[in-house]
Amino acid sequence: MRKILVTGAFGLVGSDLVPALQEKFGKENVFALGNKTIPADFDGNLVKGDVTDISSMETIIKDNGITDVYHLAGILSVGSEKDPDLAWKVNFGGLKNILDLAKTYKFKVFWPSSIAAFGPTTPKVDTPQHTSLEPTTIYGVAKVAGELMCQYYWKRYGVDARSLRYPGLTGYKAPPGDGTTEYSVHIFYGLLNEGKYSCFLKKDARLPMMYIDDAIKGTIDLMEAPPENISVRTSYNFGAINFTPEELVAEIKKLYPNFTCTYDPDPVKQAIAESWPQSIDDSAAKSDWGWKPEIDLTKMTEVMIEGLKEKLGK
Ligand code: SER
Repeated sequence: MRKILVTGAFGLVGSDLVPALQEKFGKENVFALGNKTIPADFDGNLVKGDVTDISSMETIIKDNGITDVYHLAGILSVGSEKDPDLAWKVNFGGLKNILDLAKTYKFKVFWPSSIAAFGPTTPKVDTPQHTSLEPTTIYGVAKVAGELMCQYYWKRYGVDARSLRYPGLTGYKAPPGDGTTEYSVHIFYGLLNEGKYSCFLKKDARLPMMYIDDAIKGTIDLMEAPPENISVRTSYNFGAINFTPEELVAEIKKLYPNFTCTYDPDPVKQAIAESWPQSIDDSAAKSDWGWKPEIDLTKMTEVMIEGLKEKLGK
């Protein structure tokens, strides 16, 4: 019987991943750990702990016989720049704790890396799987170190850790976090709450993006793939769509012609965006375990508006 722990359970990914895992494996077999506000309608097992405190994590894993950990807890790129020491402690230290426990308790690990593992020396278009990794953010530094730790723990100790380099993710279930690509979530709140939005990136800031449903499907498919299919033990390039703020605005305007977006680029966020790729070559994920994204920009825009309207009661 699978027993699955999700850390960061109420963040952007966890808010959609937990219900998907509950549906696939049974509500009683999924355990949610998170320090964000727990939604009033959350229906499932809650556990308390701190990913930076290994003994609290060991207790959860032992007490519940955990077989799989989706370790999502982390501080996003912009938040990490505000407190680099804390970012390292949570983002790298938290992963190290999980990997160390996986050595002993033999559970499988999913951990997200990010396009933030890349940097200004990486080719920006169709970024290859194996390429220069010289990030200029602490968030990216922790991602590269984490990727290498996953591979090292696999080779040295047989820990079955799997990872995806998530692009910018867009979803409506969780409130937007402190990330660079999160403008693509904030913009829909602006649309529905005020009919306008002031974007913190330049209008031509092209970034690799993905709707959350594709990300959840790819995440579970990777974890369910036979181990012999996993040729990349650092982290897989993982792509779907790419767009600029201006292109997203044009898509929204097809449905809401009166929507207005102004641009007031934030220097920190814009610099982070400029250090990341614009599009991703994810052929290794496609050939190893059959990755295939399904949601394009038009569809993403429609489902974000429908979902958020319902959530906000608009
Ligand atoms: N989407 C994240 C961010 O913008 C990067 O992984 O912080």
